[in-house]
Formats: sequence, structure tokens, C-alpha cells
Amino acid sequence: VPQAVSERVLVFAPLGRDAVVAAGILTEGGIEACVCADLGELCEALDEGAGAAVIVEEALMNSDLARLVRWIGDQPPWSDFPFVLLTLRGGGLERNPSAGRLSATLGNVSFLERPFHPTTLISIVSTALRGRRRQYEARERIDDIRRGEALLERRVEERTAELASANRQLAAQIGEREKAQSALRQAQRLEAVGQLTSGVAHDFNNLLTVVLGNVRQLQKGQLDATTARRLDMMAQAAERGAKLTHQMLAFSRRQKLEPKPVDLNETVLSMRDLLQSTMGGSVAIKTLLHPSLWPAMIDPTQIELVILNLAINARDAMEVGGSLTVETANVTLGAPRRPEEPAPGAYVMLSVSDTGSGMSEEVFTKAFEPFFTTKEVGKGSGLGLSQVFGLAKQSGGGVRIDTALGKGTSVKVYLPRAHMAAGQATAVAPRLSHGGDKAAVVLVVDDDSAVREVTAGILQDLGYGVVEAGSGGAALDALEDGAIIDLALLDFAMPGMNGAELAREMRARRPDLPVLYATGYADAGALTEAGDEEIIHKPFDDDELAAKIAAKLHPQKDNVVRLRH
Ligand SMILES: Nc1ncnc2c1ncn2[C@@H]1O[C@H](COP(=O)(O)OP(=O)(O)OP(=O)(O)O)[C@@H](O)[C@H]1O
Ligand SMILES: [Mg+2]
Repeated sequence: VPQAVSERVLVFAPLGRDAVVAAGILTEGGIEACVCADLGELCEALDEGAGAAVIVEEALMNSDLARLVRWIGDQPPWSDFPFVLLTLRGGGLERNPSAGRLSATLGNVSFLERPFHPTTLISIVSTALRGRRRQYEARERIDDIRRGEALLERRVEERTAELASANRQLAAQIGEREKAQSALRQAQRLEAVGQLTSGVAHDFNNLLTVVLGNVRQLQKGQLDATTARRLDMMAQAAERGAKLTHQMLAFSRRQKLEPKPVDLNETVLSMRDLLQSTMGGSVAIKTLLHPSLWPAMIDPTQIELVILNLAINARDAMEVGGSLTVETANVTLGAPRRPEEPAPGAYVMLSVSDTGSGMSEEVFTKAFEPFFTTKEVGKGSGLGLSQVFGLAKQSGGGVRIDTALGKGTSVKVYLPRAHMAAGQATAVAPRLSHGGDKAAVVLVVDDDSAVREVTAGILQDLGYGVVEAGSGGAALDALEDGAIIDLALLDFAMPGMNGAELAREMRARRPDLPVLYATGYADAGALTEAGDEEIIHKPFDDDELAAKIAAKLHPQKDNVVRLRH
């Protein structure tokens, strides 16, 4: 019956017939014996595995035992290999120092003095094998423990990795949430500032209407040179004020836009001279225009203002010798990272980049807020970028700033793509000149008596008769009283009944009555029912007022006058 290598007994007795005899005895006793011819073979057999070794003492005398000693020393912790040393007669430990040395070298060794009885050899070898089997069992237990430990370690590692990844995800989610919250806060702040701004702009427009209207009235009289100059200065100041309120309204996205398909490449090219003179000679202007740029859906006048605004900002940020780059491109954007960026989608991009100072983190976060400026008093009002932002948002796009301190800034304006080619849009309808029936009567409705008075003055100067009303109710009363009224000029934003509601009530009574809206608060949302030809912006431009009234009173005539902007 072949037994496992681990159960065999190595017999090393190179001299005489001892090996054969010992092997014979062991085989007889049912123990597999394996004879080794020299020390080398013995060591190799030990490497392969064995249960015990029987060695004659003299085989180890005068031999180089280094390899054997190394093998014994290198045994794993569970192993203590049993040797049976066959000594010569009288060579017992007590009288034999060399045997003592061998005992120390071999470690687990039993001595058997020759000659011996075969059963003694078998019993000693069997005992050694039994001990060896215990060692095997210990090995298995150690291996089990090691496997268990490795498994545990792997579990711990896996669990640690899982926790780490959960932790990372959590951190990422927290980061995302914080980002979203701060974006929301920023958006809410812009919205709140927008509401405040539009309220201020509205009241301001009424004040400016009064100032400008009265100044214009006075300018019509006989004036000495000084008074005329003073009135001019007042008119200019009031007009500048009107421009500011216009910018404020642009930020709060309450302006009436006239979007149409625009080829931005053409816009940029047509502005080159203007840009160059704005920037001064020391700044190089580059244009990178995409050859097959999509048309953008945008108010053409407003986008020119945007480009000019951005170019002025760039100029102010640059020393002598900088360069300005105006670029156009078709882009597709992913999720926005900041509230001023547009929703995902395809856009026409226009960017204005400079090699100027760049913005600090603080300036960057506040740049779009109205009245935020780093420029000295009188140099900047802080409305430029807020106007850009307002226009882009109201047009259905967005903006984005890329900036690096000391390197430069790039402001990108994203505009919605028009699905009609530029120039295909309907031409601006020709407007009619005034000079029609001057005897017509205009009903002026405005809750602000000063505004009403100024308006009435202008209309009377134009030759119209005027009926005034301070509220929607009073206006309806005037109609019902049978007053002769040819046209109604309604303030849009009034307490109680607003202009649109009042118009509806009036039409119920006089379906053919022409109506115009006066507004400093061109709320694009609320005024959707009115076309541009029905809206007059406060503060009034006399020519515009005259032209629009005449056009309403005599719609069939088509003697054309181009309105100035
Ligand atoms: N290209 C730029 N490079 C560096 N900083 C800029 C740039 N554009 C804007 N800024 C910073 O953002 C601020 C706000 O710009 P914004 O155009 O809104 O107002 P402003 O230029 O100060 O005044 P306004 O445009 O009303 O005359 C600026 O004061 C400036 O600090
Ligand atoms: Mg500016």
C-alpha cells in the first residue's frame, strides 16, 4: 500500500549493510522506508517530505552538516522533525560528547544503541511517527487559523473600502448640495435685487418724465442764452438718468425686447471701427468668427450695447498694449455650474476676452450685481455686466465669466439659436408721421398728477385736445359721460386697475377707441398684448409720442418717418 511521502521513514546508513537491515526491519513492521545513499540525498528527501529519519551515528561524523543544520533551522513553526540516531555500543550520551553535540544539532532526537532488537526499532520509529502526525495536525490547525485570519483581513479590507467609497460619495453629495444651495442663494439674491431695482427704476422714470417734460416745455419759450444752456444741462442730466434706469430695467429683465434672427458675425464686423475708437490705439483687436455661425435670436440693438459694455470693461482692465478678442462660436452646453449660466442646450456664443487684470474671487462672485463696481466714483455705475446678464437671461440664454488674476478675463454670452436665417425676419413696420388731425382729443390716464400734467402739456403743444383722468375709474366715468375722446393714453402701472385692464373695460364701451400705453416699466410679461407701436416709453420722447399718436389716429396713411432710437 503506497503511503504518503509525509509518512515515510528515511534511512541513512551509508556504511555496510546497516541501511538494508534497518529498512528491512521497518518494512516488515509495516512502515515505508526509503534509503538515502548520502547526505545530499537525505536533505533532498527531507525537502520533499518525511515522517521521521533513522540515521547511524558514524554517518554524521566527519561530515559537513551545514545543509542539514540549515534545513532543521528553517523548519516552519509547527515542525520539529524527529530523528532516531543509532549509536555504537557504549556510545550513550553520558560517555559520548560527540553524541551530545549531535543531540543539540538535530533537536528532536532519540538514541538507540546497537545492536538492538527489531521490535525496539519499530516501537521507537512508530513513536516518532506518531509525534510527527501531531505536528501535521498542528500544521493544519495553524493553516486553518491563517486562512481564517486572511479571510477576516480581506473582509475588513473590503468593508473598509466600501466605507471609504460610501464616505467619498457622501462627501461628493454634500459638496453638490452645498454648491446647489449656494447657487440657489445667489439666484435668489439676484432675483430680489432685480425686483428692488425694477421698483426703483419705475419710480425714477416717473420723476424723470416730470423733469424732462417740464424742461422740454420751458425750452420751447423765448430764452436768454444762460437759461437755455442751463436747461440743456438739465435735459442732459435727466437723459443720463433715463439711460441708467433703462440699464436697471435691463438687469431686472423687465425690458421690452424685439428679438429677431441676427448674424452676430455681421454685428461684430460692423462694430469694428467703433470698438477700435473705444479701445484706443494701443489695444490690438482680434476677431475669431465662426464661418458657419448659427443665427442668434436676440434684440440687435441690445446685443450691440452688450458688446460695447464688455469692450469698455476690457479696456478698463488692461494696461497699454493689451489685446481684445471677440469670438463667436456654436456651442452645446451641459448642466450649468452657476446661476447666470444657461440651461443645457445649443447656443450661439459671443465672447469678449482681454489680457487685463482679471478678477479676484470676490469681484467674480459679485460682478453681475447691479451697482457693484470697483471703479472710482463717477467712472463706473456697476450696471454694465448686470445689463449683459439681464439681456442674456431675458433672451433665454446666459452668461459666464472665465477669469484669472493677472492673466485676463473672458466673458461669454450665450444666446438662443434662431431657427430662421438672419435677415429673413419681417422688416420693421414703417411708422406714420404726425401732422394728422390736430383737433383730436386724447384721454390721458395716469395716477401721478405731475406726469399727467407734463403729458397734457406736450399733447397740447402738439395741437391735441386733452382730457385728464387720475385713475381707471375716473377714465371710465369720462367715457360714460359722453366726452369726445379720440384716443386713450394709459399709464401701464397704476394702483387698482392697470393699463391693460382699463383698456379692456374701455373697449367694452368703445370697441373702436385707439389705445396707447405709457410705461417706464416695460414689463415684457404683462405687456404681451401690446405691440411696440402701442407702447410709449417714459420719459417721453416728444417725436415718438407724436408719431405713435398720429399712427394710431390715422392707421391708413403711410407717409413714413423713421423713428430715432
Ligand atoms: N474684463 C474685466 N476684467 C476685470 N474686471 C472686470 C472686467 N469686467 C468687469 N470687471 C469687474 O466687474 C465690475 C463690474 O462691472 P460692470 O460692467 O458691471 O460695472 P462697471 O464697469 O464698474 O461700471 P459700468 O459698466 O456701469 O460703467 C467692474 O467694476 C470690475 O471690477
Ligand atoms: Mg462696465
